Amino acid sequence: MTTRRSLLTGSALGALAFAWPAQAQWKVEPARQARPLLHVFARRKLSLDGQWRYIIDPFDAAKRGNNDRRTFWKNFRPPETGPLVEYDWAESPIMDLPRDWNSHTPELIWYNGPVYFRRTFMVDNPGSGRKFLAFEAVNYHATIWLNGEKIGEHEGGFTPFAIDVTTGLIPGENAIVVCADSRHHAEAVPSDYTDWHNYGGVTRSVWLVDLPANHIADWFIRLDNGFVLADVQMNPKSAGIAVELCIGSMKLSAITDAAGMARLRKRNRLALWSPESPLLHEVRIVAGADEVSDRIGLRSIETRGRALLFNGQPLYLRGISLHEEPIGPIGTRRMTGGDAQRLLAEAKALGCNFVRLAHYPHSELTLRLADEMGLIVWSEIPVYWEQIRYDSAHTLTLARTMLADMILRDRNRCAIGLWSVANETPQEEPRTRFLKTLIEDARALDPTRLITAALNKNADVGGATDGQSVFSVTDPLGEYLDVLAVNQYEAWYSKRKANELDQVSFTTPYDKPLIFSEFGADALAGNRGAKESFWTEDFQAWLYEETLKMVERTEGCVGLSPWLLKDFRSPRRWHGKYQQFWNRKGLINETGTRKAAFVVLQAFYARKARQ
Ligand code: GCU
Repeated sequence: MTTRRSLLTGSALGALAFAWPAQAQWKVEPARQARPLLHVFARRKLSLDGQWRYIIDPFDAAKRGNNDRRTFWKNFRPPETGPLVEYDWAESPIMDLPRDWNSHTPELIWYNGPVYFRRTFMVDNPGSGRKFLAFEAVNYHATIWLNGEKIGEHEGGFTPFAIDVTTGLIPGENAIVVCADSRHHAEAVPSDYTDWHNYGGVTRSVWLVDLPANHIADWFIRLDNGFVLADVQMNPKSAGIAVELCIGSMKLSAITDAAGMARLRKRNRLALWSPESPLLHEVRIVAGADEVSDRIGLRSIETRGRALLFNGQPLYLRGISLHEEPIGPIGTRRMTGGDAQRLLAEAKALGCNFVRLAHYPHSELTLRLADEMGLIVWSEIPVYWEQIRYDSAHTLTLARTMLADMILRDRNRCAIGLWSVANETPQEEPRTRFLKTLIEDARALDPTRLITAALNKNADVGGATDGQSVFSVTDPLGEYLDVLAVNQYEAWYSKRKANELDQVSFTTPYDKPLIFSEFGADALAGNRGAKESFWTEDFQAWLYEETLKMVERTEGCVGLSPWLLKDFRSPRRWHGKYQQFWNRKGLINETGTRKAAFVVLQAFYARKARQ
């Protein structure tokens, strides 16, 4: 009987027969990059999730010159007469969006290229106001057509974007076509080389959003030195509009200035949010004829020397890292609210007050759940490893846009404590200059959060780190960060044995808090044996026991987010028995089976929570 796993492997090899499309030759120039419509959750909207027709295009034929019959795809409606057309949307297969195509059928697990999606939807008389097509995420590049006309493009697999369709919609049936292309060009963010499966497709929800002509475009509500501060931005940017804001029992009001912005401020008298008491306040904003609501928590996070203070008190971050991949037998990027809730519930079961949402902005659903469940969040953009083109103007502009769109989408989520600008990047001048720009952007967009990055460790003597015992965190980027974080894998990616970790120590010259943002080992759930045996649960548990001792005696360490909560799919994990294209550093496996190391970390956090 072929197990599902070997079937996947079999069909994966079969799927490798697909022609590997040439490296994508296009980039979205900044001026053409569609930007997000903010606070979609608060708006009247029609869901365009559900059944879409799809056509895969392994040779990218629809984009080639006119010498190919398939250029008719531009019309997306086979002509009644004229040359032979070898496609028909009505006869194409159906995919239930949002989801990645890789997990839709075994044949598509390794497909990396363009897929065209199409659906129709009915619009009553478009009426007054503004209409937007809003996408929560398409990985990696999206081109959008409405009723046969190209209306927009977006590059980046994990941030939202929207297109104004107020004038493009017609009464009655409208047809939308999306080309999602999962390929990453040479200047992409991330690059085309990552330790996670490149799930392609319309991976998060699609909406048709209805907005009043004069509407509240953005709000940013936060606690600032004992005051509730609220910036409310109108669109169009009209002056003299009265804005009323209620948050819990508090009422604030102000008038918009010449830029259409109202700044509201009042001494806070509401209870604060914390992991132990994740209290969210109902918010209602009325401005002109528009009214919106939200749920927002108030809290402060800051550093004082090497201490991390949350609501003015020292806090130890009991964390875990996780990818955006639900618990289940096959790897997928499709995350429902229930999926996200189940993942975060495992983090709570570990005793966590902190989650590192690696290595890219996770869905808004997950951030809202973290608010509700009391989990402080580290949120990051995928500036990942040395393959990023730190010398490219396009790459920098793209990373800046991604960072801005992540912050603008989520800065009202009180759970977010840290913005991270990078993971394991080379300690070279072009990279440091690149990230310094991102850090400055983050501070300008959101002065209420701490900035960090997951750094590589440094050797104290010579350059080799194997056999080394004293490591340091001296990355020059540390000068610009609020909180240092280091990924270290001693006793896994090193010749050292786990029982030699008592020789290992970490120091840093920076007078800043330090987080161990990654450590761990692969273990196949159910594989038991001597603790010295790689790939066993016993080895992973032993490594955790010994590493936690090292973490606990590291001066200035304010927390950790071990790598990671759940096994996840990765094309770089080839071991035919223990991995089969799964990275198995999870404390639970893909179906949620807890490994021995889960209990080790859980006991450590129970003790830390009592201190
Ligand atoms: C790296 C990287 C992770 C990767 C992990 C591993 O440090 O940050 O994305 O999955 O180590 O090797 O498992």
